[in-house]
Amino acid sequence: MFKIGVLVSGGGTNLQAIIDSINTGVIKNAKIETVVSNKEEAFALVRAKNNNIDTKVIKIKDFENKELYENALIDYLKSKELDLIVLAGFMVILSENFVNNFKNKIINIHPSLIPAFSGAGYYGLKVHQGVLARGCKITGATVHFVTEEADGGPIIIQKEVFVKDDDTDESLQKRVMEEAEWKILPQAINLILNKEIEIVNNVVRRIC
Ligand code: GAR
Repeated sequence: MFKIGVLVSGGGTNLQAIIDSINTGVIKNAKIETVVSNKEEAFALVRAKNNNIDTKVIKIKDFENKELYENALIDYLKSKELDLIVLAGFMVILSENFVNNFKNKIINIHPSLIPAFSGAGYYGLKVHQGVLARGCKITGATVHFVTEEADGGPIIIQKEVFVKDDDTDESLQKRVMEEAEWKILPQAINLILNKEIEIVNNVVRRIC
């Protein structure tokens, strides 16, 4: 059984997409071992509990500094012996030390076509605000491996979404989730679980 840990901070619709994909057999032979949040009010935790998934809250403010917080998170995740860690709306930028503890085992979903509207300062609604302010006609979502560079790791899958003239930040966010994020995140997990991809020179390639 392929063991997944999901890190969340908010509503958890991407977590839900993974849960649904496992329940419907789109993702096979996998189990969400734990859902970890840095916020105890995250609705994602309710989604996990409703599906009998183990949850854990580890808050930055309970530690003297970010390094100690990350150490606690690393220890907890290691104790779960995970095959993959999925950042699904996890709004904490992780250090090089954290990433090196789980080399090529962390993926993230980002609500734009990276490298556009990515990196420090671009998260959640801010991404869609940037897209609309620039007048982009196409946006989308990206699943990528996580490295020490924010949103800079090898890209696994991208999917485009067309911007409408009357889109608001919220309507665009909703469509990017529905049309792209909830589809490509389970697909990316399957590519890894089924060992269909490898990383060559920082680029993801299909294994033929
Ligand atoms: C999603 O749109 C996700 O792509 C984004 O936050 C939202 C979380 O929603 N992540 C980032 O912006 C990371 N830089 P969810 O909690 O409903 O899955």
